[in-house]
Amino acid sequence: MDNILSSPSTAAAPKLRLQSVSKSFIAPHTGQPTLAVDDFTLDIQTGEFICVVGPSGCGKSTVMNMIAGLDTPTTGSIQKDGQPITGPGADRGVMFQDYALMPWQSVRDNVGFGLRHGTPGLHLSAAQREERIVHFIDLVGLRGSERKYPHQLSGGMRQRVALARLLANGPDVLLMDEPLGALDAQTRLILQMELLQIWGQTAPREQRKTAVFITHDIEEAVFLADRVVVMSSHPGRVRAVLDIDLPRPRTESSRADPHFGRRVEEIWALIRDEARRAIGGSQVGGSQVGAATEKTPSH
Ligand SMILES: Nc1ncnc2c1ncn2[C@@H]1O[C@H](COP(=O)(O)OP(=O)(O)OP(=O)(O)O)[C@@H](O)[C@H]1O
Ligand SMILES: [Mg+2]
Repeated sequence: MDNILSSPSTAAAPKLRLQSVSKSFIAPHTGQPTLAVDDFTLDIQTGEFICVVGPSGCGKSTVMNMIAGLDTPTTGSIQKDGQPITGPGADRGVMFQDYALMPWQSVRDNVGFGLRHGTPGLHLSAAQREERIVHFIDLVGLRGSERKYPHQLSGGMRQRVALARLLANGPDVLLMDEPLGALDAQTRLILQMELLQIWGQTAPREQRKTAVFITHDIEEAVFLADRVVVMSSHPGRVRAVLDIDLPRPRTESSRADPHFGRRVEEIWALIRDEARRAIGGSQVGGSQVGAATEKTPSH
């Protein structure tokens, strides 16, 4: 909400503002434009953890790619700190499901890649870069594995390397597209907790990073998020935005909170029919859950 007492500077601007964003792609065979994302509007505040869920193909990655500056909206606008996003930048770190590590480089070199070759390290001396690399390797629990190569690591360790690399570049916005999707269930739960620690769940909100996290896992979304954005498909739209009012810091016992279970059920009810259609199943009516709080994005 705009604060009428503040000066018209960027101070009152949300960290990210997506206004009526749409994205059309040209279908390769027909040459016809298809609307992948339609009228996506959302303000994300500094330090918020936003999770995005929705059926496969509803445009989640497309939205994230536009925030990352890897793609541009067909119509509408995306701003960060009140400024339009015009391309990729080290201020927005991106992490994908498939690690995207360089197999020929050690853990240390993967983590330090952006610092050595990109803008984030330009103002640092070689010693400062080294110190930073060690710090983030430590933070994700990989001390002792600095000289290993990706093929010598488990999936969970690889994703920790990707996380350390993301953080080493010093972004204030973390963009994560199913980063834990390829991991086994136990590793996933552990990394969810670690991610919340690293994001800053014990720090005051203004010191936290701003996170946008895509997942297919509804429980993961509710466990991590301050708000969950539920998208519907064809075209991809914001269907609902749900506040997750679980106290922070979240712990394993957060999952036993009745609010947790209610939110999981509500979100599942919102996407159930579309998810069934996507896999060719029949539609089963009569959600067992009361109407979920469908809202227009308000923050
Ligand atoms: N570069 C592209 N060219 C043409 N169509 C595209 C392109 N990228 C995405 N699309 C289409 O846009 C729609 C949204 O795709 P997107 O990858 O954003 O979905 P998603 O929600 O991330 O799906 P998933 O959950 O399977 O990852 C899909 O219909 C997809 O085929
Ligand atoms: Mg995707």
